[in-house]
Amino acid sequence: MNPFDQQKPIEGIKNILVVGSGKGGVGKSTVSVNLAASLKKMGMKVGLLDADIYGPSLPRLLGAVGQKPQIDDKGKIIPIVRQGMKLMSIGFLVEEGKAVVWRGPMLFKAMDQFFRDVDWGELDYLVIDLPPGTGDIALTAAQKVPINGAITVCTPQNLAFVDAKKAIDMFDQINVPHFGVVENMAYFKQTPEAEPVALFPRGEMSAYLETNKIEKLVEIPFHPTVGLSGEAGIPVVESTPDSEEGVAFAELAKKVVERTQ
Ligand SMILES: Nc1ncnc2c1ncn2[C@@H]1O[C@H](COP(=O)(O)OP(=O)(O)OP(=O)(O)O)[C@@H](O)[C@H]1O
Ligand SMILES: [Mg+2]
Repeated sequence: MNPFDQQKPIEGIKNILVVGSGKGGVGKSTVSVNLAASLKKMGMKVGLLDADIYGPSLPRLLGAVGQKPQIDDKGKIIPIVRQGMKLMSIGFLVEEGKAVVWRGPMLFKAMDQFFRDVDWGELDYLVIDLPPGTGDIALTAAQKVPINGAITVCTPQNLAFVDAKKAIDMFDQINVPHFGVVENMAYFKQTPEAEPVALFPRGEMSAYLETNKIEKLVEIPFHPTVGLSGEAGIPVVESTPDSEEGVAFAELAKKVVERTQ
């Protein structure tokens, strides 16, 4: 049997997006949250699923650490709502700082529960924040639900890009439409008028994207407010929407909407 034959849409959810990268720490969770919040600001109904079973970040990024989702009378898990978005994370079910030691079948089961046992209601977009790497979770998600688009997050240097290429390749192999790459921490400006400073050496990303006809969707600058907003649980598109990073995230959301209409 083709494992992708198990794919079933989630009733009520129009589009499912995944945000991934081969590399850890490049900003997948930050991009997921700000993309989701930008879609919501465009009037969309949005849900966010933290599929990073081993390192869930979304509760912290949206100020929901320690929340416990309730179960309704039909036995469905009611997502936590933050910033007008429905949020589900393994982080709500285990204590922060405690390790989850799940493999294969349990992981499969957990993903199934996130998809089938959460009362997502009607959503225009469910944004899934993937863990680093090209492992089981992305594959499991793609086997269980039809994914409308994948976004790869990467920082400019080759050290990150060699791993991002593997993620791009994985999305191709599992037939998930790849929308393009978000170049995060692309540059830094001390003030809006200042010359941009490259924080990382530029590598082969641009040439590779051009050769393989992959779109660079947006460049997000490095800015301390992005980290601060994350710690405070408020996405930058809400706290500083007019900043260069806020505008870039809004641009990303616009492109995603164009691709999914
Ligand atoms: N554009 C940016 N400017 C400044 N800080 C950023 C930016 N993007 C991400 N960060 C910070 O970098 C750190 C890592 O980001 P994040 O957790 O989103 O990465 P990740 O790829 O999801 O990591 P993991 O692989 O652990 O899941 C966070 O502290 C975040 O606030
Ligand atoms: Mg993350």
